[in-house]
Amino acid sequence: MNLQDIEKYDLGDFYHTDSDNPVYPGADFTTWKANMASVFGLFEPSLAAGPAPRTQLATRAGKQSVINLTSYNYLGLAQHPEVVQASIEALKAFGTGACGSPMLSGMTVLHRELESSLASFAQREQALLFNSGNAGAIGMISAMLRRGDVAVMDEHSHICLIEGAKLCGAKLQMFAHNDASDLDRILEKNKGCRRVVIIEALYSMHGDFADLASLVPVARNHGVDVVLDEAHSILAVGANGRGAAELYGVEGDVALSYGTFSKAFGNIGAYLAGADEALDYIRFYANTYVFSVALPPAVVAGVKAALEVATRDNDLRVRLHDNADYLRSALHSLGISTGSSNSHIVPIVLGSGRRLLYELTHELREQGLFVAPVDYPSVPEDQLRFRACVTSAHTKSDLDDALNIIEDVVVPRLRARAC
Ligand SMILES: Cc1ncc(COP(=O)(O)O)c(C=O)c1O
Repeated sequence: MNLQDIEKYDLGDFYHTDSDNPVYPGADFTTWKANMASVFGLFEPSLAAGPAPRTQLATRAGKQSVINLTSYNYLGLAQHPEVVQASIEALKAFGTGACGSPMLSGMTVLHRELESSLASFAQREQALLFNSGNAGAIGMISAMLRRGDVAVMDEHSHICLIEGAKLCGAKLQMFAHNDASDLDRILEKNKGCRRVVIIEALYSMHGDFADLASLVPVARNHGVDVVLDEAHSILAVGANGRGAAELYGVEGDVALSYGTFSKAFGNIGAYLAGADEALDYIRFYANTYVFSVALPPAVVAGVKAALEVATRDNDLRVRLHDNADYLRSALHSLGISTGSSNSHIVPIVLGSGRRLLYELTHELREQGLFVAPVDYPSVPEDQLRFRACVTSAHTKSDLDDALNIIEDVVVPRLRARAC
């Protein structure tokens, strides 16, 4: 491994490169990337099977069996027989693509059925479908806000929320993570402007929930509406799967509820649910909706089936939370920090040391554990980590095997560093 530059540079250093031609980066980036080949080789791994608890990675040496703690398939629905069957039937009936923007020809009866199922599930008047969580977030925020408006967000917010606000020229104001008094200060400071508070319900790199019980009343006291991004929490938490808003009892104070199909639904796409008055407008001004081909019918049918399976009873969620608690407490007993996680996203926090992060990623994969390395700038430089995603489909034996690998590979390195 030629990792001479590993502690010195990160991707942030090459946002501007030594190049006069924007199509090609400068030699500085190309040289650094070549030096870091063993690190870059860890990203964009190819799975040779589905995102199940035990899957296979395609490697140069062939297929490697691994325990998977990386996929967002929180309820195991990506491979649920009813979900797969629904998609197969839609594929046979409608073919592969929607072949048109929703405004012109991309909607089918399946899309309309899903909109209506989602609206009833979310207990809202209307739901709008997007092709991805990222596109939906950018689309809905840029549809609502204009230059001079203020988007107020938590400092840990996902990049797509930030980019939505930047795209429409709104002023972006970040409050300290989960700090209700800082939110109050920012709303007060921007009094007189049109403001909206956009909150991520469950933080994807830290695994902690937004403190909705404190934050939402502050926004409402200022007369400001709340938009909640439930990307990682919808279906996965709440007695009926209605996400963190249901879990923390704030549904009535959330104006717009946003969720993705890419996590617990085990698919792709997103939805926004809210009042007719709000969505009738956003539908025409969200460019990522209007000017993009609609979701494929087979995806739509799979998402609808996933919604049905996940809301039939609470079994999958109970198993998910039980598995998350099991993994988290076993990691603690190994002396490993899981940071502020209180959900099914369980970070394995290493601290500083990029070299350690990537060396351990290689060793874990060699030992058969597939877990995602998370580097700066996704997390602070002194909080580098692995992000373990638990699912309801993991058995205790999957988790025990993963823990044994972590005990053999990670624990000795952390102990040696502490000495
Ligand atoms: C909070 C949040 N919102 C939106 C997205 C984007 O969703 P998608 O991956 O479906 O594009 C993500 C992705 O992980 C996310 O964490």
